[in-house]
Amino acid sequence: MKNQVVIHTDIEKTKINKNIYGHFAEHLGRGIYEGIWVGEDSPIPNTNGIRNDVLEALKNIHIPVLRWPGGCFADEYHWKDGIGPRENRKKMVNTHWGGVVENNHFGTHEFMMLCEMLGAEPYICGNVGSGTVQEMSEWVEYMTFDGESPMANWRKENGQSEPWKLKYFGVGNENWGCGGNMRPEYYADLYRRYQTYVRNYGDNKIYRIAGGANVDDYRWTEVLMKNAHWLMDGLSLHYYTIPGEWDGKGAATDFPEDEWFTTLKKALHMDTLITRHSAIMDQYDPEKRIGMIIDEWGTWFDPEPGTNPGFLYQQNSIRDALVAGLHFNIFHKHADRVQMTNIAQTVNVLQAMILTEGEKMLLTPTYHVFDMFKVHHDASLLQVDGQFDQYQFGKESLPQVSVSASKDKDGKIHISLCNLDHKNEAELNLKLRGLDLSASQVSGKILTADEMDAHNTFDQPENVKPVAWTDVKSEGQTLSAKLPAMSVAILTVE
Ligand code: AHR
Repeated sequence: MKNQVVIHTDIEKTKINKNIYGHFAEHLGRGIYEGIWVGEDSPIPNTNGIRNDVLEALKNIHIPVLRWPGGCFADEYHWKDGIGPRENRKKMVNTHWGGVVENNHFGTHEFMMLCEMLGAEPYICGNVGSGTVQEMSEWVEYMTFDGESPMANWRKENGQSEPWKLKYFGVGNENWGCGGNMRPEYYADLYRRYQTYVRNYGDNKIYRIAGGANVDDYRWTEVLMKNAHWLMDGLSLHYYTIPGEWDGKGAATDFPEDEWFTTLKKALHMDTLITRHSAIMDQYDPEKRIGMIIDEWGTWFDPEPGTNPGFLYQQNSIRDALVAGLHFNIFHKHADRVQMTNIAQTVNVLQAMILTEGEKMLLTPTYHVFDMFKVHHDASLLQVDGQFDQYQFGKESLPQVSVSASKDKDGKIHISLCNLDHKNEAELNLKLRGLDLSASQVSGKILTADEMDAHNTFDQPENVKPVAWTDVKSEGQTLSAKLPAMSVAILTVE
């Protein structure tokens, strides 16, 4: 049997919020320092301290929103230590991530400058776990108040006369764990209290994001929604794809066949999680006003041998590309509820887009998926129905192919495809109902590899990269193609 797919080109469902392609960069390992911030005096070419190669690469994928400063780091971060002349900034211990000294050289001003350079919306995560209400409220005043006030005046003294625009603000992170080990009832009360003082100054309107559940903790979602739904704009969810267990996650490269299958199976679990958390949210918010904000997702493997385990540095292979492609197709499917997601993390940490080693930089297979799929940003989701072959592994099986499609503002149709199967190509029949392909042009790009752990290294930075996909036939309303094993592809019909 072939994978039979119908794309209803005239059934536009909902907009795919471009923020689904958002990022997360924490003060963790070499994520910020070296990965993004090298300082103005660095021999690495930089603009105001931000390294140019990383900046250009991130601009190219149109990164829409960037979450900072954590993660677990956020609930230990005291923003006042990260402003003013850099040489005077207080040093602190980054207890969560390797116990290293954090010099606070990358603070609020540097982050806002980075977002401006990227053209990305800043998403700041505030400190509930170890910070005060006053501290959080003053941070918002510092950043956004346009007038005379202690915080606004201080910002001006530090060189920023105009307030910044700040839309997204998270009230704590993982408050069920590293953010304070709270019960949902307690956090719900704290959320109500803290968010009260996250003020809207002038025309700056903040979208408040409550700290959400860990994986399948549906009770957390229930309690938060019941007790605070009217006070939130977004509710977060965290889920990482880990082939093994927390104390033995599996290697990023050189892994056995069964770990390929398990990783993809676990990536697909995101669909179930969104469906179930959404169903709870629907009870309190049937209009879907509140966005589900999946502000941490991605693969989490054992750290690369020989690296600081607290730095969460891992390689990134064609398997990660499949995980990214599957996640995006799932996020699109739920685009009526999922308003933002942030992959963990942008550079040098977990499922990174970019790896650096001193002045060297490489783009990972995951980066290429972000690049190929950026055509979906803010496009209209199209209805897709399909019958798929099974990708069999031992006694288990998964659908062999994942598909999503959208129509952009110029009427172009983009179809994203993943073949999960590590051995067999997928025969595809894509019927674009409502379209005559004889009057259309079809082009494509594909990312694939011969090895399950194919990846890029500083010696071979282009080992895995997208190439043109021309092997697609069109007849009437139907496109047919053979999608190679282990591949992620995008087709454009115009
Ligand atoms: O992304 C790494 C860590 O994972 C984050 O700091 C934390 O929020 C999560 O547990």
